[in-house]
Amino acid sequence: MQRGVKHLVLVSRSGSKAAAKKFLDQWERQGVTVVVAQSDVSDLNALRGVIDNIERSLPPLRGIIHAAGVLSDGILQQQTWEKFMTVLAPKVLGGWHLHRLTQHLPLDFFVLFSSTASLFGSRGQSNHAAANAFLDTLAHFRQAQGLPALSIHWGAVSQVGAAADRQVESYIQKLGMGTIAPEQVLQGLEALMQSLSPEIAMAPIDWATFLPNMPEHGSFLSRWRAANRTASGSDYSELRQQLQGVSAEERRDRLITYLQNQVSQILGFSSPQSIDLQTGLFDLGMDSLTALEFRNRLQRSLQCSIPSTVAFDYPTLSSLVDFLLQQLSAADQSQTEPLGRAASQLETDQHLQSSGKLISLDTKLTPEQNPVQATLEQLSDEEAETSLMNTLDNLGY
Ligand SMILES: NC(=O)c1ccc[n+]([C@@H]2O[C@H](COP(=O)([O-])OP(=O)(O)OC[C@H]3O[C@@H](n4cnc5c(N)ncnc54)[C@H](OP(=O)(O)O)[C@@H]3O)[C@@H](O)[C@H]2O)c1
Repeated sequence: MQRGVKHLVLVSRSGSKAAAKKFLDQWERQGVTVVVAQSDVSDLNALRGVIDNIERSLPPLRGIIHAAGVLSDGILQQQTWEKFMTVLAPKVLGGWHLHRLTQHLPLDFFVLFSSTASLFGSRGQSNHAAANAFLDTLAHFRQAQGLPALSIHWGAVSQVGAAADRQVESYIQKLGMGTIAPEQVLQGLEALMQSLSPEIAMAPIDWATFLPNMPEHGSFLSRWRAANRTASGSDYSELRQQLQGVSAEERRDRLITYLQNQVSQILGFSSPQSIDLQTGLFDLGMDSLTALEFRNRLQRSLQCSIPSTVAFDYPTLSSLVDFLLQQLSAADQSQTEPLGRAASQLETDQHLQSSGKLISLDTKLTPEQNPVQATLEQLSDEEAETSLMNTLDNLGY
């Protein structure tokens, strides 16, 4: 309004909410015509009705800010297509419909509210990340056609909105990300709208904390990581280095300390040493999402494949440390085989055994007793891997 807007159309499925009323009244007192349209942006016909109304009864439409969004979080294994569609609809269908219905108009701006979820990924938000990735791509698509477009990867906003409602602040702080105050959103929006780039992120990030917390294979950050590794001359993790060349007892102690620190950080405890090794991780407050984060941290620090169910399979630090030490010594014994491969082989074997679908790789059996192993031994690494993948496929994995 301070920038001279005289006509504003607000679209949402529920129409004006009580909380918005004081702003609507204030704007109207300032001489702004505010139209509140009750419509679903994912419904093409309903949205066409809104655009037709604007063309019929208001001055020419000059800009669009698409900020519609819905969350339905959950780890990927627990996602359903229905939950995905709930989140995709306002962004994918809504963004696309707005594009199609207005592409003939000489707009000054077409802003899409995306999220850092589609830049870095976000735990439990696969659908949100996918929905926003569509908006990012739409911005590039429009710009390639000479149409105005800007997709903004917002970080979490404090005080108002979906992130504030979910009280994510302390969680994202642990990841190395701060929040954006609502006034900063407005200031940022104004500044970013001057940009020629169709895709920009705005988020306060402490990179020293943030980068180690990010998945190893995140596409956006992978080149930075590669550069960092080249600079340090090694891709061997600090933890793995600390666990090398020490006595078995010292190795165990170091790993326990590391695990206690990780659990404390994830669950927000102030004294890691007080975590009892025999207490169940879930009794300490872990849930399925934090269990997945814990596993991701372990995987990154140990640079090996760890089962996503590790906190369920080894539910105390005492049992977990035994499992991890076993994985590490298996890797150490296999000088030529990288740990990741050894660990994933172990995981596959254990998974097959625990599910009762065992392909026996028992070394004590003779070739006659164990034709599978006899065949495998004659295969090259690639052939063995292909054979294993085919077998897993046939077993329905
Ligand atoms: N808050 C954050 O920290 C944050 C961070 C990154 C990105 N973003 C993005 O910024 C945007 C706004 O976020 P927010 O936190 O302010 O969300 P919010 O408080 O949940 O508001 C979302 C708005 O979208 C409307 N909406 C949802 N589905 C719709 C549909 N199908 N058709 C029309 N309107 C619809 C909702 O109204 P009805 O329910 O009445 O339809 C609501 O007014 C979202 O796109 C979000 O993904 C937010």
